[in-house]
Amino acid sequence: MPDIYYVNGRFTDPENAVVSVEDRGFLFGDGVYEVLRAYGRHIFRIDEHLDRLSRSLNAININFLAFSELKNLSYEALKRSGYDDALIYIQITRGVAKRSHVPPKDMHPTVVIIVYKTPVLPVDLFIKGAKAILYPDIRWSKCYIKSLQLLPNTLALSQASAESSIEAIMHRNGIVTECGSSNVFIVKDKQVKTHPADETILHGVSRKTVLEILQNQGMTVSENEFTIEELLESDEVFITNTLVEVMPITQIDDKPVSDGNPGQITLMLMEEWTNQRDVLFGRSKA
Ligand SMILES: Cc1ncc(COP(=O)(O)O)c(C=O)c1O
Repeated sequence: MPDIYYVNGRFTDPENAVVSVEDRGFLFGDGVYEVLRAYGRHIFRIDEHLDRLSRSLNAININFLAFSELKNLSYEALKRSGYDDALIYIQITRGVAKRSHVPPKDMHPTVVIIVYKTPVLPVDLFIKGAKAILYPDIRWSKCYIKSLQLLPNTLALSQASAESSIEAIMHRNGIVTECGSSNVFIVKDKQVKTHPADETILHGVSRKTVLEILQNQGMTVSENEFTIEELLESDEVFITNTLVEVMPITQIDDKPVSDGNPGQITLMLMEEWTNQRDVLFGRSKA
């Protein structure tokens, strides 16, 4: 079964899935994106992803309104792939124009959709937990926009990979913000904490899913800033994103988190996420 490529109104093969070198996404990183996940041919929280896409587009003044068409196209692309479980990448750029910092007014956005088979992550990362590194948050001040400009994130994640780590936990002025491609939570004395959803982090759909699960369990969550010291002294650390869902972090740089094993709340969240997904999408447990 093939990965599926869609560019500006056309489903095509990868060789013909091309955009102009004068696309502002290529020249300026002038665009935004989303990564969605399908389970059993249903796209998880698609409306929330499209809402965030809309907020990102508005924030950089790209005029795009065809969200119901985009929703249909995402399902059409998924169907064409034949994959039950898939990652759906959507990218919208401002479009093609002669290179100039100031874009012309009458631009037509470039729309790209790619459907990939969901990669299988090593099960040990979930059973034993994963390693992360600390890394300075060198990004701009509008990280709630899911911008194509991912150089700081790719530098952070490349460094993490060089140190055999799954993530880079980023910090600014001693405060932990989020990771290169995920949100981060800590647990201390059964109190869960994560950075507030302000302009300095991406408002993760998975972050919100976890907050809802915790609230449904009657647990309080503190959406407040926390320091690197609090991170390193916490009982549990976990990350969330569309691909990993919930993943325990059991080592940060050379230091184990607590006793170096995934904690109870993290394990509960991993189980609860799987249960909800299976109930929602009629998916049998692996
Ligand atoms: C910087 C960053 N933070 C958080 C997330 C998690 O977002 P979501 O849960 O919507 O996948 C991502 C996902 O790509 C990300 O790139």
